[in-house]
Amino acid sequence: MARPVIHALIPAAGQGRRFGGAVLKQYAPIAGRPLLAHAIEAVSRHPDIAGVTVVLGEDDALFAQLIGRGHAGMHTASGGATRAQSVLNGLHAIRAGFPETEWVLVHDAARPCLPAACLDALLDAGLARPDGAILAVPLLDTLKRGNAAGAIVATVERYGLWAAQTPQLFPLGRLSAALEAMLAAGEIPTDEASAMQYAGARPLLVMGSAANIKITRPADLVLAEAWLAAQSREAAA
Ligand code: CTP
Ligand code: MG
Repeated sequence: MARPVIHALIPAAGQGRRFGGAVLKQYAPIAGRPLLAHAIEAVSRHPDIAGVTVVLGEDDALFAQLIGRGHAGMHTASGGATRAQSVLNGLHAIRAGFPETEWVLVHDAARPCLPAACLDALLDAGLARPDGAILAVPLLDTLKRGNAAGAIVATVERYGLWAAQTPQLFPLGRLSAALEAMLAAGEIPTDEASAMQYAGARPLLVMGSAANIKITRPADLVLAEAWLAAQSREAAA
């Protein structure tokens, strides 16, 4: 069977408000390179990824300066006011520029430590699923619901609860239609799976990794650096 054509889409048009700082989050240096460079490499090094489109903020001057068109298969698109709109803009650009694309793999710029084995597992399981698949990890902590005063009002059943990660893998046409429908209805999904669920799909949960952390606040860089160091030790061993 012919290999499906998969294009990676990296939304990198956020403002990094919770991260703060002088340098935009996606360009914060980690292990000597911008966060975004790690995220791009984590997906583009996979042999089944045909191309990469990075969605950038309107006033982004750093991409050209710090990353550029690092390799032949990399392209850019302009972001929107929400992550969902940025992803939709990227999907339009992929459909226009690469009509042969069948699947899209959406990966946050803010996740620099995606293990290669997780991406393999997602592609292995997800490409057989018309509803697509996402990386996710089961929740481990005991979950409490708090009230406005900060007091516990309930313990939440943990069984069956997962924390969604990226990459998220979907058929390109179905994801575009689902995102368009949800945004047209005035709802804003925080990940692609939510839009697919809105359209009635049941994407598969594929086991991700604690290493695949999202950088939200500056303190998250410490952990990410440790994971990257562990990964490069492993690769060298
Ligand atoms: N993103 C985007 N377009 C937006 C908002 C977010 O492309 N309008 C991207 C971010 O650049 C990031 C990913 O979506 O790669 C996940 O978003 P998040 O971690 O929330 O980053 P920010 O939105 O930049 O941070 P914050 O929410 O703290 O402002
Ligand atoms: Mg955000």
